[in-house]
Amino acid sequence: MSALFQPYTLKDITLRNRIAVPPMCQYLAVDGQVNDWHLSHYAGMARGGAGLVIVEATAVAPEGRITPGCAGIWNDDLAQAFVPIVKAIKAAGSVPGIQIAHAGRKASANRPWEGDDHIAEDDARGWQTIAPSAIAFGRGLAKVPRAMDLDDIARVQQNFVDAAVRALEVGFEWLELHFAHGYLAQSFFSAHSNQRDDIYGGSVENRSRFLLDTLKAVRAVWPEHLPLTIRFGVLEFDGRDEQTLLESIALVRQFKDAGMDMLSVSVGFTIPDTTIPWGPAFMGPIAERVRREAGVPVSSAWGFGTPAIAERVVKEEQLDLVMVGKAHLANPHWAYFAAKELGVERASWVMPAPYAHWLERY
Ligand SMILES: Cc1cc2nc3c(=O)[nH]c(=O)nc-3n(C[C@H](O)[C@H](O)[C@H](O)COP(=O)(O)O)c2cc1C
Repeated sequence: MSALFQPYTLKDITLRNRIAVPPMCQYLAVDGQVNDWHLSHYAGMARGGAGLVIVEATAVAPEGRITPGCAGIWNDDLAQAFVPIVKAIKAAGSVPGIQIAHAGRKASANRPWEGDDHIAEDDARGWQTIAPSAIAFGRGLAKVPRAMDLDDIARVQQNFVDAAVRALEVGFEWLELHFAHGYLAQSFFSAHSNQRDDIYGGSVENRSRFLLDTLKAVRAVWPEHLPLTIRFGVLEFDGRDEQTLLESIALVRQFKDAGMDMLSVSVGFTIPDTTIPWGPAFMGPIAERVRREAGVPVSSAWGFGTPAIAERVVKEEQLDLVMVGKAHLANPHWAYFAAKELGVERASWVMPAPYAHWLERY
């Protein structure tokens, strides 16, 4: 009996299995608007059999895009462009999720294949970035952000709330707040990037405030019966990981009390030049610790895209959901092939009948 292919229920949503496609930016939106490429991409991911497909980091405000090609949901027209994508994901038997995001000081960057660095100051495609403090990330992302004032903070929190309302209106059933990867929320939490001397900086309680208040404001508009998850970097691999992990786990407990339903356990990526122990499933034991000590369901990504590994981490109760990213880019039907490889007897419930009927015999 495969653990990976057991259904999973969170609030009123039941996924057909424990496989999720994590958010993966396509960088091909125009002025924030998703298009036929995104429809084709997400339809393919859902058709392949994953239980959950989370649409890429979608900016809650124009200045919150990582690159000029990033998706946005800061007005109703942008939101409407997601309707065909939501329908396509559902038609394939998957649950449509979306990650809403603000890139903070890592915004205004070139696309990965065009440098992954900040757009040059004299290039009209770029814009002024904002962050908790006027501290640049470093290396290619050396643009100094403007430190947010209290009005900026209130505005961006409202942007998150409005984005959540729009995501609900166009049919998303799973909402993820992007509080990871050195983007705006993560940079409030990290003392590397937050050196404010007001109620948003200094103590861990103050550095957590932006994240917790944003969560509470979003929870108030996102229905109780639908999952609200957070992606958060629980450590940086900067040499002080035990302390950061303890602070992170304490915050995750508060997320839980404030209505978060699941944590997607990730890395902070707040400073460059850390030594990350990349390797298959390296985040598994860390996610398991967060799951146990904070008492929340968890998912995680980074190197789980081998069927035997994905099966093991669910069986060993390290993860509740397994995020399989690049392996899905390589093979959108990853879930189907994983079912075959794991000897799951009837693959018919992994994908709709017109595929499953024939593939069972294939
Ligand atoms: C093309 C690409 C785009 C990504 N965009 C996002 C994103 O929008 N939001 C996010 O939280 N992570 C993003 N990530 C990270 C993935 O969600 C995932 O954590 C990563 O690919 C590692 O998982 P994997 O080893 O299964 O690929 C992206 C990764 C890739 C490859």
